[in-house]
Amino acid sequence: MDTLVSASMLAADFRQLSTELSRVAEAGADWLHFDVMDGVFVKSISFGEPVLKSIYADCPMPIDVHLMIVDPIRYVENYAKMGAYNITFHAEAAEDIGAVIDKLRQLGVKVGISVKPATPISAVEPYFDRIDMLLVMTVEPGFGGQVFLPETLDKVRQAAAIRAERGLSFRIEVDGGINGETAPLVRDAGADVLVSGTYLFKAADPQATVKELRG
Ligand code: DX5
Ligand code: ZN
Repeated sequence: MDTLVSASMLAADFRQLSTELSRVAEAGADWLHFDVMDGVFVKSISFGEPVLKSIYADCPMPIDVHLMIVDPIRYVENYAKMGAYNITFHAEAAEDIGAVIDKLRQLGVKVGISVKPATPISAVEPYFDRIDMLLVMTVEPGFGGQVFLPETLDKVRQAAAIRAERGLSFRIEVDGGINGETAPLVRDAGADVLVSGTYLFKAADPQATVKELRG
């Protein structure tokens, strides 16, 4: 599978958001990663529906929504209607994981499910044949610019092994602390969508950075 780079908007300069989005798109980023935080599931509050509404019409990349919010089923319809390409919700935040998957399918968006560093792959494995993407958090969700947790690599390996064993084709995304050093590690473990915030948005040469991440 080709490796995709999803640029995490959390690290953008919000004073000039549309220029920032064009800059990473021109550098070759495949998707825009849109981190929604509610101050309950994670400590911080980021941005949500009004911001997505204002960017989606001319966003130069498909929008990869990462919901770090409690009770995701209440909100997915709004995000789907506002032009999300993928919607990824946290397994730990959903009362009924299967119901959220079904709802996303009905809405016609790609279905992603995410696990925090402490949540084992076994918690989401039963849903592997119903998803388009598994997001393995490589830091504790909540903030950009954190240090990659190497113990999460095993989970990526496990997910990739199960995917191969079962002949499935969902993508495996990693998010948090991805840079020139950690990208080869996650790619080797089997990840094929690399989220990058700080490393990409702060790069002097974003085009070279996207290439480096893609490997
Ligand atoms: C963290 C977010 C990430 C974050 C990644 O909770 O889900 O998407 O923006 O940022 P970096 O690449 O700076 O670790
Ligand atoms: Zn994210």
